[in-house]
Amino acid sequence: MEISITTLVNKDNPLEENFVPDNLSTLASFCSESDKQLIKEAKIQWEILCTNACKEGMNLKVVSAYRSFEYQQKLFDYYVKTRGLKYASKCSAKPGYSEHQTGLAIDVMGENGDYNLFQETKEFNWMNKHAYEYGFILRYPKDKEKITGYKYEPWHYRYVGKELAAYLFQNDLTMEEYFLKEPN
Ligand code: DAL
Ligand code: ZN
Repeated sequence: MEISITTLVNKDNPLEENFVPDNLSTLASFCSESDKQLIKEAKIQWEILCTNACKEGMNLKVVSAYRSFEYQQKLFDYYVKTRGLKYASKCSAKPGYSEHQTGLAIDVMGENGDYNLFQETKEFNWMNKHAYEYGFILRYPKDKEKITGYKYEPWHYRYVGKELAAYLFQNDLTMEEYFLKEPN
């Protein structure tokens, strides 16, 4: 299976179990915890974003990027075990259904060092204004839980390229609304 930077991956559009993206590349340590990988284009844009954010006093770090099918299985199982299936389904993708398996998604943290509390940081405000300029979108916004199928995740960003990111940002659309809207 082939994917592109704009491929929709969600609860209705899974990847193949054995899917591994081409071109995975390790993120530089100034903008990521160690050994986190994205596809090359997304890595380059993330590093440019962080370089520019740094100049404005921001301190952004990736805490999770590419995740294999097997790793996602472990994560999902952990949430089911600790919080139950209903909760797990709203905050974690089943293996094969996670954007993290595409190598195009990241979870980030800011100055407080806790991605769960990213919303409280100045870096979150910066990302709200500037992420799209580098091709990243906030993938699971607050008021779109019914549309995306997931709880609000202020820390999860998806690389879709600058053109689509600008369009989605300016029109306040999720990927689901953009790709699945009814024809006029
Ligand atoms: N937390 C997101 C939905 C994932 O597991 O891919
Ligand atoms: Zn994520």
